[in-house]
Amino acid sequence: MWSSAGGNGQTRRVFGVLIRIDSVTKRYPDGTVAVDRLSLDIPDRSITVLVGPSGCGKTTTLRMINRMVEPTEGAILIDGVDSRQQPVNSLRRSMGYVIQNAGLFQHRTIVDNIATVPRLLGWSKDRARARARELMERVGLDASFAKRYPYQLSGGQQQRVGVARALAADPPVLLMDEPFSAVDPVVRKGLQDELLRIQEELGKTIVFVTHDIDEAVKLGTMVAVLRTGGRLAQFAPPAELLSEPADEFVEDFLGADRGIRRLSFFSSAELELLTAPIVAVDSTAEQITAKVTADVPYLLVTGLDGRPLGWSEPDALTAGQIDAGRLLSYGRPFVAGQDSLRAALDCAVLSPTGWAVAVDAEGRATGVASQAAIADAIRGAHAAGRQEGRERQEEQPAGETVSKAVR
Ligand SMILES: Nc1ncnc2c1ncn2[C@@H]1O[C@H](COP(=O)(O)OP(=O)(O)O)[C@@H](O)[C@H]1O
Ligand SMILES: [Mg+2]
Repeated sequence: MWSSAGGNGQTRRVFGVLIRIDSVTKRYPDGTVAVDRLSLDIPDRSITVLVGPSGCGKTTTLRMINRMVEPTEGAILIDGVDSRQQPVNSLRRSMGYVIQNAGLFQHRTIVDNIATVPRLLGWSKDRARARARELMERVGLDASFAKRYPYQLSGGQQQRVGVARALAADPPVLLMDEPFSAVDPVVRKGLQDELLRIQEELGKTIVFVTHDIDEAVKLGTMVAVLRTGGRLAQFAPPAELLSEPADEFVEDFLGADRGIRRLSFFSSAELELLTAPIVAVDSTAEQITAKVTADVPYLLVTGLDGRPLGWSEPDALTAGQIDAGRLLSYGRPFVAGQDSLRAALDCAVLSPTGWAVAVDAEGRATGVASQAAIADAIRGAHAAGRQEGRERQEEQPAGETVSKAVR
C-alpha cells in the first residue's frame, strides 16, 4: 500500500504499523465534530504527516494518540494494543510531544528543560544533565547554550530545545504539532532538514501536524490530507499525492504547480548527458574545433580543475586566450544522479543557453543536457511511475521502501 521508489532517489524503509487509528470520532461537549470516523495506519519508524486547513481536526487527532483527548467513538491501537488498556502515564512517556513555540519552562535553563522527563523518571541530576547535553549536540545546539534561559535563544533555537526535550527519555514515538510554523522560512528549512536527519539516525515513529502542504510533502513518508469536519481526504506517499490527488479538494490544497513539484521525486540518474561539447580553458584550436557538434550550438568551458566556467559560442573562443569573464553564465549546475529532475529542469530554465550543466560531487562538469532531453527523462519517469502504481496494487506493505524527494 505505501511502497514506491522513484528513480534511485533516497529511500527510507517502512517496517510495519505502529499506531492504528480505527474509525475514530471526536465530538466535543458543545457538539462540534472535530474528527469524523477517521481510520489511519501509521507506519513504524517513519514520518506520517497530518495536513489540512485550520480547524480540520489535526490537533485533536494528535492529542487522541496520547490520550490528552479521549475519542468519542472508535479505538486507537498502539502496537496492536488498545491505548485505553495502558496506564495514561506510561503511554505519554512513550510519546515525546513537541508544540509550536516549543512550550519551554521559562524559569529553567536549557539543560534543565531538556532533562525534565528523565528527572521525572527518577534519573540523578548528573545523569539527566549528561543526557541533555548529548541531545543538545544531536539537535545542533551549541553546548554554550546549556546554562541559558529560553528567552536568551532565538525562536528556531528554542524549537530545537523542544525537540531535544521530547527525545530526552528516548520514546519510540514523537508527536509534533505545527512545531516549525512560527519560525521564518530559512530557519524552518534548517529545522526540517535536521528533523529528517534525526529521524534517519534514530528511527523514531513521528506523527507530524502541519497546515503547510510543502512541509508535508518534504517531510512525510506518508501524508494524510484532512478536510474540514475531520474527514480523511487522502492518505498516500507524497509522490502519489502529487500525481494522483483523490479529488478536487486535495488537488486545490496541493496548489497549482504540483506537476513541477512532483519532479523532485524523480532522480536525474536516467537523464542522458552529452559530454562532447565540453572544452578545457587551456584547449588548443584543434581541440576546440573537434568539440563542435551539430547538436549543441555552444561549448561549455571548464577550468583546469574540471569545474564549469561558462558557455560560449565556438566562434568566440580563441585557443590560449579564453577569457572566463566573457563567458555566458551556466546558471546553477545539478549533481547528476543525486539531484532530482526538478533540479535539472531548473538548471536548464535558468541557463542562458537553455542547456543544463551536470557536475559530480566535487563540482566537476560531467555533461550537459538539453531541455528536450530533460523532457524525455520526465516522460520516462512518469511512465515508470504508472507501471509501479499498477504493481503496487497487488503488493502488501511490510518492509517496503518509500520514495523521498531527491532534491
Ligand atoms: N475543546 C474544544 N471544545 C470544542 N471544540 C473544540 C475544542 N477543541 C477544538 N475544537 C474544535 O474542533 C475542530 C478541530 O479543532 P483542531 O483539532 O484544533 O483543528 P486543527 O488543529 O486542524 O486546526 C475545530 O472546529 C475546533 O474549533
Ligand atoms: Mg491545530
